[in-house]
Amino acid sequence: MEQNNAPARLDLVAMKKVPADLVVTNGTLFNCFTGEFLEGHSLWIKEGWIAYAGPDPEPLQNDNTRIMDVKGMVLVPGLMDAHTHILNLTGIEEFVRHVIPSGTTTVVTETTELATVSGIDGIKYFVEGIKDQPIRCYYTLSPLCGISQSVENGAPSNSQVFHFLEDSWCLGIGEIYWGNMLLENKQGQRVKELARRALLFGKRVEWHSAGASGNKLQAYTSLGISSCHEPITEEEVLERLRLGYWVMIRQGAIRKELEGVKGIFQQSIDKRHLILCTDSMDPEGFLSEGYLDAAVRDALNLGVPPSLIYQMVTLNVAEHFRLDHLLGSLSPGKLADLVIIPSPQDFSPRTVMRQGQVIFQDGRNLVEPREAVFPENFFCSVNLPEMPVIMPPEKGKVRAIEMVTRLVTMETVVDLGDQWAPGSLNMVLAVDRTGSGESFLGFLKGFGLQQGACGSTMCWDTPDMLVIGCDQSSMETAINRLKELGGGAVYAVGGEVVAEFPATLCGVVSLAPMKEARDQITRFEETLKQNGVPWENPLLTLNTQGNAAIPHFRLTHEGYVRMKDRKVLSLMVSEKQERVQP
Ligand SMILES: [Fe+2]
Repeated sequence: MEQNNAPARLDLVAMKKVPADLVVTNGTLFNCFTGEFLEGHSLWIKEGWIAYAGPDPEPLQNDNTRIMDVKGMVLVPGLMDAHTHILNLTGIEEFVRHVIPSGTTTVVTETTELATVSGIDGIKYFVEGIKDQPIRCYYTLSPLCGISQSVENGAPSNSQVFHFLEDSWCLGIGEIYWGNMLLENKQGQRVKELARRALLFGKRVEWHSAGASGNKLQAYTSLGISSCHEPITEEEVLERLRLGYWVMIRQGAIRKELEGVKGIFQQSIDKRHLILCTDSMDPEGFLSEGYLDAAVRDALNLGVPPSLIYQMVTLNVAEHFRLDHLLGSLSPGKLADLVIIPSPQDFSPRTVMRQGQVIFQDGRNLVEPREAVFPENFFCSVNLPEMPVIMPPEKGKVRAIEMVTRLVTMETVVDLGDQWAPGSLNMVLAVDRTGSGESFLGFLKGFGLQQGACGSTMCWDTPDMLVIGCDQSSMETAINRLKELGGGAVYAVGGEVVAEFPATLCGVVSLAPMKEARDQITRFEETLKQNGVPWENPLLTLNTQGNAAIPHFRLTHEGYVRMKDRKVLSLMVSEKQERVQP
C-alpha cells in the first residue's frame, strides 16, 4: 500500500546526497499551512514523494533527473473531493476519465448505489472496482439507511461489514441520515453500532443532518459524528462549525450551496473546518462545467480568497480524514499529487500529477482508467414475477404526495372526485424489484405529467422501481421496457416507448460513454418537460420519491412514509391504516 511505502531516502535527497527523480522548478508554490503563494519555489520528488519544497537552490541531479520548468505557474496540491458518489448514473471508468482533467487526484466516495440492490456484494465489487485507478479513490462504508422503520434495503449485518473498516482505503461510515440514527429499533441499533465501531478504529462517521438544529443537532453530534455536507444557510454552517464539525459546502449536481452560504466567508471566524465538495456530478455537469474544478471556479467568482478555497479542497479534507501525513499539502514527506495552474485566480489545470506521474497535460489525459468488473447477476436486477395491479380508486379522499420543490415534498389529501385528472394528479407506483413483486399505488400532486408514464429503477436508497403515470397502459409499457432493458429510465405513451436511458448495472448505472449517457438523459428529460413536467432535472425528482434523506412525504412498496415519524401510511384517509412498523 502506498500509505506505508514512502522511500527511505527522502531526507538524503533533501540534503543533496541523493539525486531527485523529478524537479519541478521556477514555480509559485501554494503553502496550505500559511495560505501564502511563494514565488521562485521548487519541488524535489523521489519515487513519487516530495523530498523538498522550498526556494529554488540547485538540486543534486544526475542523468536520470527530469527537470520541469513551470515558468512562474502556480503549484497547488491535487484537489481532494471529501464527499462524492462515483456511481451517479454512469460507471467508474467514465467518472475517472472526467475527473482527471479537473485536477482532483483524490476522492472519498459513498458505497451505496450497488449495495442498495446487491447488498454486501455490491460494496465488495464496487470497492474492488475503484482500487488502483489513476486517481486515488477512498470510500466510506454505506450504512444503507432504510426509508421506514422496517425497510432495511438488504443491508448486511454489522458483522459482515466490519472487516471493511480494517481496509486503509475505508475512511469510516458514510452519510448516516439523522432520522435513522436515533430509531429505537433494530435498524437504529445497527447504525449506532456501526458508528461506534468506526470510531474505535479511529475512523470517521459522516453525517447527513439536513434540517437538524438545536438540541437534536447536539444529540446527534454526541454520537461521534464530525462532518456534514447538508447546510444550506450561513446560520446552519456556523452552528455546525461551533460544534466542531468539518462543514462540507456542496457545489455539485444535486445542489449548489455556495451562493446561499457565502456570508460565512465574510465572518471573522476560523475557517479551517470548511470544505468544498461535489456530493456527485452528473453527465451534463461533467460535460458542461467540470467537477470540483467547477466548484473552485464558482468560489473564485464569488470573491472567496483563493488561499481559503485551496485549503478547502486540500489540507482541510486531508486533516478531516486523518490523511494529512500523506496528502493535502506540498511539503516534504507527502505524496507528489499536484496541479499546475496559470494563477491563483485562474483555476484551469494545465498539468495534473498523481504521485509524481503526469496524468493530464495540455488538455488531454495521459492515462486510462482500469476496467471495473462485475458479476453477471449484477446485470439481472429487475425481478418482477408479474405485472403489478394498477387500479386506482375512482372516488374518495386519498393521501397524496405533493411537490413543494423539485425535491421536497409534503403530505396532502385530495378528493378524487374533484381532482383526479392527468396534469393535476398523477399515479405513482412503487414496486419491489428484488423478487417479492409487492407494490403500492399512490398519487402524486404537482409533478405535472399530462400524458404517458415515466419509470425508473435508479431510485435513491431503495431497490423499488418507481413509476409516475397518467394511465395504466403507459405505466405497464414503461414497466415492461424496464424489465427488458434490465433497468434505467423509460418514458412511454400508451404502448409506445418514447425515450429511454438504459442503466443495466444493478439497474442504477449506465455503462455508456458520458456523452451518450448525457444525450439519453437530456432526451428523456426534455420529453417529460414537453409533456407538462415543470421541474428542472425531472429524472432526479423521479429518482428521489423513495429517498429517506429528503423531507417530508415519500413512498415505498409498503405504502407512503411520513418522514417525521417514519410511519407507513395507507392510501385511503378514511380507513384506520396508520401503523408503526415493528
Ligand atoms: Fe451524498
